[in-house]
Amino acid sequence: MISSTMHNFPSCILFLLLTLTANLFLPSLSEKCNPDDKKALLQIKNEFGNPTKLSSWDPTTDCCNGTWSGVSCDTDTQTFRVNNLDLFDLDLPQPVSIPPSITNLPFLFYLSLTNIPNLVGAIPPSISSLTKLQYLYFSQNNLTGVIPNTLSQIKSLITLDFSYNKLTGPLPDSLSSLPNLGGITFDGNQLSGSIPESYGSFPDSFTSLTLSRNSLSGAIPASLAKLNLSFVDLSRNSLVGDASVLFGSNKNTQKILLARNSLAFDIGKVGLSANLNSLDLRNNKIYGTLPEGLTGLKFLHNFNVSYNSLCGQIPQGGNLRRFDAYCYAHNKCLCGSPLPACKT
Ligand SMILES: *[C@@H]1O[C@H](CO)[C@@H](O)[C@H](O)[C@H]1NC(C)=O
Ligand SMILES: *[C@@H]1O[C@H](CO)[C@@H](O)[C@H](O)[C@H]1NC(C)=O
Ligand SMILES: *[C@@H]1O[C@H](CO)[C@@H](O)[C@H](O)[C@H]1NC(C)=O
Ligand SMILES: *[C@@H]1O[C@H](CO)[C@@H](O)[C@H](O)[C@H]1NC(C)=O
Repeated sequence: MISSTMHNFPSCILFLLLTLTANLFLPSLSEKCNPDDKKALLQIKNEFGNPTKLSSWDPTTDCCNGTWSGVSCDTDTQTFRVNNLDLFDLDLPQPVSIPPSITNLPFLFYLSLTNIPNLVGAIPPSISSLTKLQYLYFSQNNLTGVIPNTLSQIKSLITLDFSYNKLTGPLPDSLSSLPNLGGITFDGNQLSGSIPESYGSFPDSFTSLTLSRNSLSGAIPASLAKLNLSFVDLSRNSLVGDASVLFGSNKNTQKILLARNSLAFDIGKVGLSANLNSLDLRNNKIYGTLPEGLTGLKFLHNFNVSYNSLCGQIPQGGNLRRFDAYCYAHNKCLCGSPLPACKT
């Protein structure tokens, strides 16, 4: 009976019915998401404990059509490999480590897991198998352990940001071998030890060094004189000695933030970059006389040298007029406006 009914159907309609039925169960033939990438993403979702924010990661839909939260695929080369994973504010049901299946997304160039309070444990050294990574952000989580030295195997890295976690141990000295690195942002952790000598060998592309709010100690290596930093923030550590290597009139430095250390050097002998807009040296042991050149800085809008051992007349004029007595307070013998006049 059945076969005679079937026989009466035009074969093209039968084919259409079969295709429609198959589509209910199988991914569409036009799905762009690579099956290996989809599998890895679904494993990651599972390893995260299936947070509600990832409910859009629906196995029956295309991971590359823009509906999977935080996922994008390579549309430029039309390979549609998952190359960008940007997850933040995830409501993880319980504390978990960085999902191991992340290393099964080999085409990632951008990976960001930020502001996830239940993201704990160490940064897995296996992250180095993601050899196309350029931007790596693991900030504002609860990560612990050391920063793995294996990161120096990811030659494509441009930016590393692990700020505001609970990372401990030393700064990895091998990072300076990364040929395209533009900056590191490790502030707000519990990193200890000294700044490696090798950090003077960062490539020319390296312009941003942010290590504030850690437990770094020792002297700033003289090798750092070779760097041409736009932005340097070493505030709130226990650094000692000379920081004059961070200055230089022939550099492009815009921000030098060194507050709350025990740095001791002669401020009168540093060269000032014409582009300097922020100079915060408060709460150190810096001595000498403030350089006249400060009055010529056109962009200076943040300046504080209070709580040091400075002496002599405060240079008068230019943008320095913007700063009140609190920016100069508690020095050895600074004088002149906005402090009381110098004794003649
Ligand atoms: C993505 O795919 C799903 C299921 O296939 C579909 O419902 C949705 O409309 C698609 N979205 C876009 C932007 O193409
Ligand atoms: C993560 O850190 C925050 C702030 O320090 C804290 O309130 C929270 O309990 C931590 N979560 C875990 C799982 O450690
Ligand atoms: C620092 O970089 C700027 C450009 O960003 C350049 O003009 C300057 O010459 C460089 N200085 C040194 C000492 O390399
Ligand atoms: C300068 O630093 C001192 C000491 O920390 C502080 O009291 C003062 O408010 C600061 N001034 C400005 C303008 O930041």
